[in-house]
Amino acid sequence: MELSSIRQNFPILGQKINACDLVYLDNAATTQKPIAVINALSDYYSHNNANIHRGVHTLSRRATDLFEQARKTTAQHFGVANEQQIVFTSGTTDSINMVAQGLSKLYLKPGDEIILSMLEHHSNILPWQLWAEENGGHLKVIPLLADHSLDYSAFEKLISPKTKLIAITHVSNTLGLVTDVEKIKSVANRHNIPWLLDGAQSAPHMPVNLSVLNPDFFVCSAHKMYGPTGCGILYLNERWLSELPIAKTGGGTIKTVSFEKTEYVEGALRFEPGTPNIADVIAFAEALKYMDAIGMQQIFKHESELVQYAQTLMKEIPEIDMYGIHDHKAGVISFNVKNQHPFDVGTLLDKYGIALRTGHHCTQPLMKHLGVQGTIRISFAIYNSKQEIDYFIEKLKKVIKMLS
Ligand SMILES: Cc1ncc(COP(=O)(O)O)c(C=O)c1O
Repeated sequence: MELSSIRQNFPILGQKINACDLVYLDNAATTQKPIAVINALSDYYSHNNANIHRGVHTLSRRATDLFEQARKTTAQHFGVANEQQIVFTSGTTDSINMVAQGLSKLYLKPGDEIILSMLEHHSNILPWQLWAEENGGHLKVIPLLADHSLDYSAFEKLISPKTKLIAITHVSNTLGLVTDVEKIKSVANRHNIPWLLDGAQSAPHMPVNLSVLNPDFFVCSAHKMYGPTGCGILYLNERWLSELPIAKTGGGTIKTVSFEKTEYVEGALRFEPGTPNIADVIAFAEALKYMDAIGMQQIFKHESELVQYAQTLMKEIPEIDMYGIHDHKAGVISFNVKNQHPFDVGTLLDKYGIALRTGHHCTQPLMKHLGVQGTIRISFAIYNSKQEIDYFIEKLKKVIKMLS
């Protein structure tokens, strides 16, 4: 697909911000939505809306089919043969909390250890920290090398008989660095330790085949993948699909209920109590189809080219400090303008219609490690172009002059 036709699929991109063309470079926070996704939402509410799973009437059966078809589409997208391993949640944060709360009931014990990394988003720190504080557990953190990539040899040394889980980001939301999953996996498998992969920033940018990666848990958010907010997935391998204790319960999860005893269903529905986010799940499936039509390999290639292009131009600006410069990155660049607050730079760039993110990006431990309060982050999606990067560089130089 040509870039110009891709851009036409995203109505929001056609607008002016502060009388300038919108240049949307805040995709790691959330992506814009293609018309196919917007139409799926409106179509669902205009023609198919009903509660699912237990209705005999036509609308309910239709909505149920669409919802369960979305599960199949999602499973196919991630290379998963058994779609029951895909649980719909409200997003990455919800999914990680479900795993943390579930594991804390039967599996994790006082004194146990969980390994995280210095790159983690708060959503992959706080649920484990809460468990550790409430249960006498410990968190161990994989340090970074001088180039800000993970120190894999230090990682291995963190493993102990008490290590019960490795929970790690697939792609750093702040630096865009890609974790060497094979290294994590081989250590985890050798020591027989379950591992969770936070795919919030990998699933939008690169092919993710879960039957090849084979983590115990994989989580991601629809809204970072051209889908709606309030929707995401928790993938569980076969073991945890039956063994993970449920963190929340209610209607839709059961075979029979009596005041004495409840028997739960098997499969994904055991983890989806109450009325789910039906419309958004269905629209998420459209987002996945949209990405698959372009091709995840193609998406990665396009965004990698943008990263290379932007990094090269930014290296020539002496007033800039870039963090985590690397050839193999997934759509994200973090930097600072020397002696300037990121907020000021971001606010001035907004005047030119450029949307980017400033601050700690929910990675305060990483900020501390970098020795900064925050950074300026640009992040790319399939609709971004080199022309937009040229425009961004031109305005960035202008802003640097204004502030100096
Ligand atoms: C790496 C990573 N993990 C987790 C999250 C949390 O995602 P959500 O807010 O969609 O739950 C994000 C969001 O930015 C992220 O980038």
